[in-house]
Amino acid sequence: MSDIIKQLKERKSTRSFTSAQIPPDVLDEILECAFAAPTAGCQQLYTILNITDQQKKDALAISCDNQPFIAKAPLVLIFLADCRRWLDGYELAGLKAPAPREADLLLACADAIIAAQNAAVAADSFGIGSCYIGDVWEQKETVTELLGLDKYVFPAAMLVFGYPTAQQESRAKPKRFAKNFIVQENSYHRLSESEQRALFASQGSNLDTDVAPFGKRKYMSDFACEMRRSVAEYLKEFGDASISQN
Ligand SMILES: Cc1cc2nc3c(=O)[nH]c(=O)nc-3n(C[C@H](O)[C@H](O)[C@H](O)COP(=O)(O)O)c2cc1C
Repeated sequence: MSDIIKQLKERKSTRSFTSAQIPPDVLDEILECAFAAPTAGCQQLYTILNITDQQKKDALAISCDNQPFIAKAPLVLIFLADCRRWLDGYELAGLKAPAPREADLLLACADAIIAAQNAAVAADSFGIGSCYIGDVWEQKETVTELLGLDKYVFPAAMLVFGYPTAQQESRAKPKRFAKNFIVQENSYHRLSESEQRALFASQGSNLDTDVAPFGKRKYMSDFACEMRRSVAEYLKEFGDASISQN
């Protein structure tokens, strides 16, 4: 097994960090690896915010569904899907470009998230753990003000980084579903009831006893409702072709 394959298979999320700081040259390498990720039309449709202000980390720990480990992370990067930078470039170049739409946002999100994953993998190669924070999509109004976001800029991905504590190193990586349920051939197949049972069993859980409580905790939780409300607000900025650029 190559080193890369081993690293990809063994990486796991880190939510508790030692007090060690990430050296600047290591951070530079992590960022260079993010830039090296595939990017649509080589446009780099993202801006990366390095959150160094402790007060902002504290505020994010609260706005991101009260996850205190965010405030304790030595490095917090937010990968913004940036539909503003090129638009301004076009305008300055004399091109009358229309306001960005949902498709432009999705493309920029793809760019930002792929760059983020390169950063996570690069960090892992230095022994630095990371964890995505999906809850950065919550509380649009708070996050927009906190980070000074533009209306055409969306926080596509947030990652916290740091050196893992011994407890995190020894924690088991969560099990994945069996390959035959995740990989299909040529056309989409909706899983039958028996396949659903086998799907969850393959990951060590029970459809009858585990899945409904999980759904209540995750899919139907207050934070999921808040995320849906908040993202709908972000999307409003991209939903109307008739609105002006500014
Ligand atoms: C889009 C996304 C959002 C996530 N959001 C959170 C989060 O807000 N808090 C958290 O503790 N973990 C979060 N995670 C980490 C997942 O819980 C983790 O990746 C998953 O349980 C699998 O574990 P592993 O990364 O250790 O393999 C997120 C992961 C992804 C990809």
